[in-house]
Amino acid sequence: MVKTITLCSSCNSKIDVEGEPNQEIEKKCPNCDNNVKILLNDEDLEELELYPIFEPYEYVKIVKNLESLDKYYWVIQPPLRDDESKLLDYIQKALIESLDTRLDQIKGDAGVFLTDKVDQLLKEHEILINDDLKDKFLYYIKRKFVGFGKIDPLMGDPYIEDISCDGSEVPVFLYHREYGSLKSNVKFANEDELSSFVVKLSQKCGKHISIAKPMLDATMPDGSRIQMTLSSEITTKGSTFTIRKFRSDPITPTDLIEYNSMSPEIVAYMWMAVEHGVNALIAGGTASGKTSVLNAIALFIPRESKIVSIEETREINLSHSNWIPGVARSGFGEIVGDRLTGEIDLFDLMKAALRQRPEYILVGEIRGRESYVLFQAMATGHTTYSTVHADSTKSLIHRLEGKPINVPRPMLQSLDIVLLQTNTKRKDKNVRRCKQIIEIVDIDPQTNEVLTNEVFQWDPVDDKFVYLGKSYILERIRLQTDMDKTEMKQEMERRVEVLKWMHKNDIRKFKDFAKMVSSYTEKPDQFIKFIRENLRYEIEKMEPTPIKVERVEEVEQIFNKKENDNEDDPNINKGKVKNNSGFFLIKRKIKRGIK
Ligand SMILES: Nc1ncnc2c1ncn2[C@@H]1O[C@H](COP(=O)(O)OP(=O)(O)O)[C@@H](O)[C@H]1O
Ligand SMILES: [Mg+2]
Repeated sequence: MVKTITLCSSCNSKIDVEGEPNQEIEKKCPNCDNNVKILLNDEDLEELELYPIFEPYEYVKIVKNLESLDKYYWVIQPPLRDDESKLLDYIQKALIESLDTRLDQIKGDAGVFLTDKVDQLLKEHEILINDDLKDKFLYYIKRKFVGFGKIDPLMGDPYIEDISCDGSEVPVFLYHREYGSLKSNVKFANEDELSSFVVKLSQKCGKHISIAKPMLDATMPDGSRIQMTLSSEITTKGSTFTIRKFRSDPITPTDLIEYNSMSPEIVAYMWMAVEHGVNALIAGGTASGKTSVLNAIALFIPRESKIVSIEETREINLSHSNWIPGVARSGFGEIVGDRLTGEIDLFDLMKAALRQRPEYILVGEIRGRESYVLFQAMATGHTTYSTVHADSTKSLIHRLEGKPINVPRPMLQSLDIVLLQTNTKRKDKNVRRCKQIIEIVDIDPQTNEVLTNEVFQWDPVDDKFVYLGKSYILERIRLQTDMDKTEMKQEMERRVEVLKWMHKNDIRKFKDFAKMVSSYTEKPDQFIKFIRENLRYEIEKMEPTPIKVERVEEVEQIFNKKENDNEDDPNINKGKVKNNSGFFLIKRKIKRGIK
């Protein structure tokens, strides 16, 4: 049995086709009734997904082999006939000869520059081709000259997190956000092609790789991290590279709720904890989403707090203004003592951070002696958040107490919360979940055991999060803030309501999210009232479809203005309605049916 997805040649909508290998099938497009003919593959394959990366030229298919159950990532590009390929080669060579500037130094759009150049060349060489073929050529030319060549589709696919090439003549592997690790149909034909590609990549990062210095760690122009080696000097298979793609749009708590990585209740709990300066460590395996959680919960740090962050490579992204981001750097030149001249590691940064008197310290990942300083910082009243590689509380404690971290047991008491992340499979798809939230309650004075309390747990069967009924941390915050038990319960419920509202209205960009959080902190009663009005609007209309606030600024404006103080501002007053409470709501453009 072969299952495939094809695109209608007339309206471009997706059509599912099923049949035997090599069978020719004719099917009507359900959208436009156009007849589509397709010849099925000769293998037992099921196509799981088809999506465009760069329409109408680049598409991706995720394919499953029904026998071996292996999954593949197929890049589909416009096919070129032999004569067309030769012509493209010819044009590209002529283009290289005619270029007198470096493309990365062109002011303005390099794509437009290349289009003009190609037009000029075609004229000069008296080559007549139709517009379709010219566009196809331009797609390949731009990819080669200003893009990332063969791996350009992989760089352009937002679902891809990692790309790794372990040598020539073997497929490039990648990590897909939904389908996990996949083999792609991108391959470097031989070592020459691969090593010249690696050299070009290093130049794109403004660095230099050579036989004398065959290893390079660099940041790509889009912020992605790349690690590469040149030729078979170090790795026996030849040149290699691994790219960890940068996400320009960081994951926010709204995303975590959307992906069901955390429940709104867990997020509300972390919101309370972070706002009230409770310490936490985020633990989990490689790529389980630790750093993303760290970044997401950092959005709950009060807007005016002083924050210092420390990382090996820049990943933390905050919207706070009083924030000093620190990044370690490797040394150069001679080795003095046990390190290279000029090296600044996490330990140095950690010591420097403490002198800067921050209220919050964020550390990308703790591994070595900087962890000890982090615990010292906790013990001396700083609020710290960091990630650490460990897959259970037990292994975490073992790691912290063992070499090279060596945190003495009494110091563990300064840690309040451990959030355990996991990367696991559910129904063939990769998912990230917050597996457990554990509070470090005390150290038993008799047995010296670490006493913990589990607050939330993920139930893998129902894919739901369970609250286990007791939180020492919330109780501590309650006493600190002088709330009674009912007030505390109400506060938590309100925050859950705010988070659900933000999720429903798709407030997910990290700056927007941060604005909403500070609006709530400044005027919680008004904020709640606002969102309830919003919900009532929906009920009055008797339409259960979600509504969407089109511009976050509209909500924010309300909270930046004092009540009734903007009546004579002509700009703000436009399009506003006064509701019963005298509290101004700006008429929102309501978009229906989103999500
Ligand atoms: N909850 C999540 N759901 C889906 N993808 C996620 C989630 N958290 C992180 N990711 C993605 O997983 C990759 C690894 O995340 P990262 O936070 O860097 O993991 P870690 O720090 O554990 O190595 C990133 O590409 C990120 O965008
Ligand atoms: Mg990380």
